[in-house]
Order: sequence, then C-alpha cells, then structure tokens
Amino acid sequence: MIIKRVIAKSVRDSRGEKTIKVIVKTNRKFKTSAPEGKSTGKYEAKPYFRNLDGDIKIINSIDINKINKLIQKKDVKTVSQAFLFLSNVEKLVKNKIGANSLFALEASLLKALAYENGKELWKFLGGKKENTKNIRPVGNAIGGGLHGEGIKKKEPDFQEFLFIANGKNFEECVKINDIAYELTNKFVKSWIRNDEGAWETGKTNEETLMILDKVRQIIKEEYKKEIDIGVDIASSSFYKNGKYNYKNPEVDLNKKHQILYIKELINRYKLFYVEDPLDENDFSGFKELLKEVKKAKNQKNKNCLIVGDDLTTTNPERLKKAIKTKSINAIIIKPNQIGSLLKLKEVIDIAKKNKIKTIISHRSGETKDNTIADLAIAWNCDFIKTGIYGKVRTRKLKRVIEIEKN
Ligand code: PGA
Ligand code: ZN
Repeated sequence: MIIKRVIAKSVRDSRGEKTIKVIVKTNRKFKTSAPEGKSTGKYEAKPYFRNLDGDIKIINSIDINKINKLIQKKDVKTVSQAFLFLSNVEKLVKNKIGANSLFALEASLLKALAYENGKELWKFLGGKKENTKNIRPVGNAIGGGLHGEGIKKKEPDFQEFLFIANGKNFEECVKINDIAYELTNKFVKSWIRNDEGAWETGKTNEETLMILDKVRQIIKEEYKKEIDIGVDIASSSFYKNGKYNYKNPEVDLNKKHQILYIKELINRYKLFYVEDPLDENDFSGFKELLKEVKKAKNQKNKNCLIVGDDLTTTNPERLKKAIKTKSINAIIIKPNQIGSLLKLKEVIDIAKKNKIKTIISHRSGETKDNTIADLAIAWNCDFIKTGIYGKVRTRKLKRVIEIEKN
C-alpha cells in the first residue's frame, strides 16, 4: 500500500463548531472526523496541541515517505503489526498534535490498512461477529444540565436520562429504544430537542425519572419487551466549593448527602446505569456509592452500573486508580478523550481484565463519522452510547446493525 497524501481540514460538527477531519489517500480515500464534548472532563487530553489550525498544518506537513517506509518495513497485515505501526506514527507526531487530531489520523490510517488487507476495520482489528450479540445501545431520551436550555429556564440538573433496551439482538434493541423515545414525549410533550437529540423539559430530576419509569412499564406490558433506565448525572458540572448545587429545585448537597440521594434514586427507580454521580476528583465518593449499591437486596439494584466518565477520561492511569480504589464497575470509552488508539485499547484491556463493563461513547458535538461502531465490535465493548435521534447518532447504530447482519 502506498499512501499518496494525508490531508487534514476543518469541518463543522452537529453544534456548528469546527472540528478536524483527516483523509488518508491511497487509491481510495479513508476519512475520519473527531467529535467534541461540551461537558468535558478536567483530565481529558487536549483536543488540539495549540489550536485546530495549528494541528491541521502539522498533519498536512507530515512527511509521507516516512509513513510509507514504516508500512513497507513491516508489511502491516496483523493487529500486532498495525499496533507497532501506530506506535511509530505516534513517535512522528509526538507533542505536535492534540487528541482529536491523533484519533482522526490513526483511525484513517487503520481504515486504509484494513482495506488493503481486504477487511473492514472491525475485522482487521481482530473483532468477531459474535461481539454484536453482547453489545447494547445506551440512548439519551431526555436532557438537562449543560446539554440543554430547558423550558422556561427550568430543566433537570442531571445531564442525560437514558434507555438501555434488552432485545434479542442489537437491531431489536435499537427499535425498542426508538419506541421508548417516542413514548417519552407523550409525557414530556416538549417537541424541542437538545444538542444530542434528547427531549428538552422543564421538569425536575425526579419528575423525569418517573416518566422513564412509566415508559419502562409500557414497554414491558404493551410491547412485552425489556428496557433498562439510567442517568448521566455529569455531577462535576454543578459541583462547586464542596457542594452539589442543584437548581431545580434549589438545594445544596454535600458529599455524604449526594451519595445518599443517588442511592435513594437507584433503589426507588431501579436504575441500571448511573454515570458520574460524584465529582471527577472524588474516587472515594464513587467507592462509597458502589459499596452501598452492592449491599442492596434487590438484584437489579445490586447490579447497577456505577460508570466513570469525567472521573476516568479514557486514561489508563485514572482507570488503574479507579480499580485500586474500587470506585467503578463500568467505564465510558471516548476516543478523543485520549487520542491514541493504542491507549484506548489499553484502557479496554485493563477494564476487561478487571470485570469493568465498557461503554464506547459519542460526544455531544458529533459528526456522521461511525468509527466508534467498528471499534466497539472490534474490541467487544458491552455498550455503545450514541443518542437515539438524529443522523449523527443513528449512523453509529446503523453501522453496528450492518455488521450484525453482515
Ligand atoms: P460531552 O457529554 O460529550 O458534552 O462531554 C457527554 C457525556 O458527558 O457523556
Ligand atoms: Zn458523561
């Protein structure tokens, strides 16, 4: 395979903001664009080294001969050869580009190599088709927090209210999540959607959870299907001076009361999934909550996923700390939180070794890029979080279905 050009340019994401796209040209073109978060974790890698234009310049001036030499020297045919190639590419751009740019560059190079080997990306990376049997979609149905404006200046303080269908296969799970999303608006009656295509509402956290609970019942009784519910609390976004500052209704909770409140919600609404319930620095708070969850009598509550996102930021060192401190039993995997696909795989490997569930995830600002679907199947993730409504969200779900039916 001879790479003729590597081109970086800026494109608009779903919020209309500029992000990076990297195109690798051989006899064909292989493209990847990076997303952008809004409620970003403090410990995420920087998206660009200095800025987007600076990274674009660096990628456009990469010496293609050097990349071609790396490929020819090691005739890249296997996953381990591909990883060695990526580690050499990383040396070439080390400390020159940020995480968004590195992710888009590495993914486009891998797509080109996969094609050269007659395989799709997920398969080239060692994925098995059975992996589509394990994966479930996590879909955002109602939004609050930093992702929305709410209605008449009111909104839930939690960022995302989520459905996680449990169907006979991925395609059915997606259908059940779709039905749940539509049913949800019978109760929300909002017709306004936020950044991620979730319904906007002026309701409180608990009023919103009651809606999810009702929808879960309807899905069970009328549709005879199973669906779980969850929340992304994104609590760092409203944690200030040692308190969780709730606005709707107004109340300040300290760490101890926040843990009690979340535990209460898990039990009352039989939550299956709770992301970032405590501040991004609070490993011990996460640990206390997880300990409480494990004490629950009800099996559903016992198995509740306590998910790290801002806490762990797809960073191997932060994941190791979370494991050592017994803070989480599930982790969000976002490629552009870390940039390097090698480190991303390392995070997934550490998680699997320690029985931590993996949730590969989109960002609130997205493009039509569906690379995360291939990565999810390649590396056997347990969940894919993409939202339910809107092309930039459904493209990823459709890609998993395509692999499932392949
Ligand atoms: P972000 O939010 O993409 O705006 O960071 C998503 C999340 O917190 O899971
Ligand atoms: Zn999150």
